[in-house]
Amino acid sequence: MTPEASNGGRLRLDSVTKRYGDQVVLDQVSLDVKPGEFLTLLGPSGSGKTTTLNLIAGFLQGDGGRIELDGRDLSNVPAHSRDIGVVFQQYALFPHLTAAQNVGFPLDVRKVKGEEKKTRVQAALDLVRLGDYGDRLPGQLSGGQQQRIALARAFVFQPRLLLMDEPLGALDKKLREVLQIEITKICRELGVTVIYVTHDQEEALVMSDRIAIYNSGRIEQIGSAEDLYERPASLFVADFVGESNVIAGTLDGRDALKCPAGTLWLPPGGPARADQSDAPAAIVLRPERARIAHASRPLPDGVNATTGTLSELVYLGLARKCIVTTDHGTELVVRSDVKEQFEDDLRPGDPVSVWWHPHDSVVVPAPAVG
Ligand SMILES: Nc1ncnc2c1ncn2[C@@H]1O[C@H](COP(=O)(O)OP(=O)(O)O)[C@@H](O)[C@H]1O
Ligand SMILES: [Mg+2]
Repeated sequence: MTPEASNGGRLRLDSVTKRYGDQVVLDQVSLDVKPGEFLTLLGPSGSGKTTTLNLIAGFLQGDGGRIELDGRDLSNVPAHSRDIGVVFQQYALFPHLTAAQNVGFPLDVRKVKGEEKKTRVQAALDLVRLGDYGDRLPGQLSGGQQQRIALARAFVFQPRLLLMDEPLGALDKKLREVLQIEITKICRELGVTVIYVTHDQEEALVMSDRIAIYNSGRIEQIGSAEDLYERPASLFVADFVGESNVIAGTLDGRDALKCPAGTLWLPPGGPARADQSDAPAAIVLRPERARIAHASRPLPDGVNATTGTLSELVYLGLARKCIVTTDHGTELVVRSDVKEQFEDDLRPGDPVSVWWHPHDSVVVPAPAVG
């Protein structure tokens, strides 16, 4: 038996700000999370992810802005009345209570008793595939099992919103990967809205409908994994999500970038703002969008190219990674499918061209080149 599907709530944050003394740790953060959506907050340590969750849960008071769940302002709603489930990395189970008693705890608080409580606890345990483990004490469970119990405890009362703060952070890689899939599946089944926090980009890419990239208390960009990967809005996002080659220079009109390698064509559409001639900018080129050829080979018309020396060739199973030292001393990484044969039999030390179609790159604003 599974708990009846709880429809997720709609969460809105409008210009939420939090300060500690002079330090602004959240700077006008706004979010609109759809019912049933799985949104991940991804960013480096100290960027404000946990603070955001604590404000939503009601464990912290903000210094500005508004938080709404299903249109209801939460500012005067105490944490225990917010109808929000919470799973934290360090959210320890009560060690002297059995798994079933731990899972039943939120129901005790809500005065759910007797047969109904028993049924809902069992359903929650079944959902995390620990239906036969109800009598165990936390000390008799593995780390992964304990975290599944914490999960069952968070949704046993059918919250409209589930907050998870690095819930898999303490587990080893293999178990983490299994639980990533399980958690995503369970949350989709329940239809609950989820705000999930991690600093692990792969975890974010695997689990999320959308990802909000945090940087120093602000959201840099929010979008699907594909949006962030294919159309990063800033160098920070390009760097944080996936591997990228960054070629810095200054804009030359709307179509080109002047850089040490010469003049490179920008992707169609050009920079976000038209008034930016001479402004510092950078081309972001994903390694799998770059191509490599022997320097003697003629290249197609209209492509960007830079010359250098193949310094390293690494086989990665499905792909091959070429590291090229350009004639200007920078490094470019080219990743190609091993099924796609090199046109040339390239070896380290060979003079090469790295080339790409302008539409396969992205242009972002950049700090001035030194
Ligand atoms: N109680 C506190 N007092 C002062 N500063 C705090 C407090 N809690 C968090 N901070 C600061 O707020 C910033 C954001 O922290 P946090 O939200 O925990 O980041 P994250 O979860 O992204 O790692 C950090 O610079 C942290 O040092
Ligand atoms: Mg944190």
